[in-house]
Amino acid sequence: MEENKKNKSQAIIEVLDFGPLKITGNFLLKDLKRGKEDSPGEIKLCICGKSGNKPYCDESHKK
Ligand code: FES
Repeated sequence: MEENKKNKSQAIIEVLDFGPLKITGNFLLKDLKRGKEDSPGEIKLCICGKSGNKPYCDESHKK
């Protein structure tokens, strides 16, 4: 991604090799399962299916 296209008002979703989807930037997280709503600035979502804390990555993909 070109650096000049990054905008702090946007969320950026990165697909990491053999790992999670990393989301950074300005976004609202609504986790209805945990009754949580905030703007964390960065989260990693599990796409490997091994996380014990789905939908969040807990680094189990490295095992
Ligand atoms: S992507 Fe990290 S635990 Fe699944």
